[in-house]
Amino acid sequence: MRADQIKPQPSQCDFVPFSLLSADEFQIDAWYTFQRDIRLESIPDEPVFSKEELIQRTESMAILFETENWALWNSEDNSLKALCGLKHWKRDQIGSPVQFHITVARGHRRKGIGTAMLGKIAECARRDSLVNLNCYTNSLFPSGEAFIERTGAVKSHEDSFNRLHIRDVKREIVDEWLKLPCNKHNGVKTGSWTGAFPENRIDEICEFYQAVLDAENTEQRNKGFRYTRDVIRKLEKASLAGSKKLTVYAVDPINDKLLGFTEVYWNLLRPSALSQKYTAVLPSARNRGIARRLKAEMLTRIMQELPSDASIGTGNASSNKSILNINTEMGFKLHTVQKTWLIETDDLVKFTDLPPVRPSLLKNSSFTKRV
Ligand SMILES: CC(C)(COP(=O)(O)OP(=O)(O)OC[C@H]1O[C@@H](n2cnc3c(N)ncnc32)[C@H](O)[C@@H]1OP(=O)(O)O)[C@@H](O)C(=O)NCCC(=O)NCCS
Repeated sequence: MRADQIKPQPSQCDFVPFSLLSADEFQIDAWYTFQRDIRLESIPDEPVFSKEELIQRTESMAILFETENWALWNSEDNSLKALCGLKHWKRDQIGSPVQFHITVARGHRRKGIGTAMLGKIAECARRDSLVNLNCYTNSLFPSGEAFIERTGAVKSHEDSFNRLHIRDVKREIVDEWLKLPCNKHNGVKTGSWTGAFPENRIDEICEFYQAVLDAENTEQRNKGFRYTRDVIRKLEKASLAGSKKLTVYAVDPINDKLLGFTEVYWNLLRPSALSQKYTAVLPSARNRGIARRLKAEMLTRIMQELPSDASIGTGNASSNKSILNINTEMGFKLHTVQKTWLIETDDLVKFTDLPPVRPSLLKNSSFTKRV
């Protein structure tokens, strides 16, 4: 943008609340086209989601998140120029950063829309008395990092997204890991489930998820969130829409207690693009090689049952050395890096130069207090 051009202020942009629940058919089509084009821009070689699939995935997120979104519509052709919003993870404690996102369609960038949307985010964060906010940037969109860094936001952590092509699997490693755990007196029995978790294990699976989550609670995050069979079934139903799931599990051979499992999903339309989801070992059963054994069992099944051009994608915190080591040993290669940025609301308000708070704003219903 040239210096003599004037950038829009949030008040000059007509940001309209956007929700899939209240959007009409044309708006939903425009929203889908926007999301599809963004995906194609970043990963042009990968198949796109269908509209139904994307709607289902987005709606299913309501189980975990409360969201509030705004759209900037193009009055010329009713397309979507940009979308921004806040997303509050229900698992989080009050006071944890609320996540925001801003995406501007390719043809409308560097015109100040993203910055104007930052103003909208700041306005809402102040309305809701949020102390701080976070957002993600992805290495597939270098513009995001340049855009966020200038606000004074600081990088809080990084996640690596890695990919493994089945043809690159190191078979000798898989064979080695199939013999784990080394201690024969402390062995495991493995098995698999196709599709949803079996009903006779569901209570144990809830307890398993909860034990793993509670063990992660180093930062007072997620306290109070309970994995119930309702939560697990809803999440599973959303992920299984149009998809298949394979879970490989390990149990104690003596008492049949669930010790760990790993799951992959693949869409029926894209059977060669697998998505590695949850892998976890019960905290009390760690450091025995169970995760490696599970991964090796899973890869063996995938190599037998799925096309040889299949690949598996997985995302892990860059600090999670144990799972990253396992993945690297298996042959996973870095695909993208996602950075998480943290900014105080006061700093964002200053950056966006919002006018002093209006009492009327404070009376508006608060996003974080919605059900
Ligand atoms: C990041 C994004 C939202 C920016 O939207 P935008 O409308 O182009 O942003 P603005 O026009 O307000 O840009 C503001 C400043 O950000 C920086 N910036 C934005 N894009 C940049 C790029 N490609 N390279 C370098 N700096 C960039 C510049 O300093 C720019 O000011 P300038 O144009 O005067 O040089 C947009 O590129 C996008 O949608 N990216 C993909 C999604 C994403 O990464 N979102 C960010 C995380 S929430």
